[in-house]
Amino acid sequence: MSTPFRLDNKVAVVTGGASGIGEQTCRVFAAAGASVVIVDVNESSAQRLAAELPGARAAICDITSPDAVQLLFSTLGRLDILVNNAGIGLVGNIEETSLEDFQRLFRVNVEGVFLMTKAAVPTLIQSHGVIVNISSVGGLVGVKRRHAYCATKGAVLMMTRQLAVDYPTEFRVNCIAPGTVETPFVEGYLEKYHKHEKEKVRLELNARQPIGRLGKPLEIAHLALYLASEEAAFVNGAVFSIDGGWTAA
Ligand SMILES: NC(=O)c1ccc[n+]([C@@H]2O[C@H](COP(=O)([O-])OP(=O)(O)OC[C@H]3O[C@@H](n4cnc5c(N)ncnc54)[C@H](O)[C@@H]3O)[C@@H](O)[C@H]2O)c1
Repeated sequence: MSTPFRLDNKVAVVTGGASGIGEQTCRVFAAAGASVVIVDVNESSAQRLAAELPGARAAICDITSPDAVQLLFSTLGRLDILVNNAGIGLVGNIEETSLEDFQRLFRVNVEGVFLMTKAAVPTLIQSHGVIVNISSVGGLVGVKRRHAYCATKGAVLMMTRQLAVDYPTEFRVNCIAPGTVETPFVEGYLEKYHKHEKEKVRLELNARQPIGRLGKPLEIAHLALYLASEEAAFVNGAVFSIDGGWTAA
């Protein structure tokens, strides 16, 4: 029997691959044998990571730019795996959310996924490839003061299911809905919104998840590895919560 969860000879594109969940996904995929293309707007972090990982390269690309996405795909010889991971957050109920911020979140979290997926589909049909979309618990349940964020992550979840209906045999597409995970995304949130009470809010974030702690980027990356691998050949159009029990209740 061969070793499970290998990605030898596969080319994987990971958006937002320079930080947090995306970075760990790049590390895990490279260790599993994939050639990883680290797509990010953070050039220095993407280049640093690419230099560390065998067979990896950085591609500086803003996923909200149709021209940049087109240019990226013109440089890809083949593609087997697309991880739509890049995303941004915003705190606010509907009254606190400006139209500008709402549109900014949709541009990155939804239009970015649309543009990358649309560009990837012809190649993924050829390679019989895989898409892994990163949504959030905010795509499954309402989270307090995350009006725009929940709306975008719900859209990512439904884009996943809808694609699986249009392309049931051509490629596989699945969705991961993480709870709160220890990444620069969460650190940035604490710094921006709770600068003077970081430790108090960090404890609240831990308590929000019944397991009593935040997730680790590696725990999410390993689920992405499973979904990208041949072992998940029967898994399609599915949504996986990985949230320490948050959405069980
Ligand atoms: N951290 C969490 O608690 C958590 C929970 C659930 C879901 N998520 C989702 O997981 C994904 C990754 O989150 P993270 O915590 O690792 O975030 P992060 O902030 O650590 O990393 C996100 C990366 O995406 C890149 N990026 C942002 N906009 C981009 C753009 N327009 N084009 C290309 N790259 C861009 C950033 O430069 C950064 O490197 C996001 O979609 C996020 O919504 C995170």
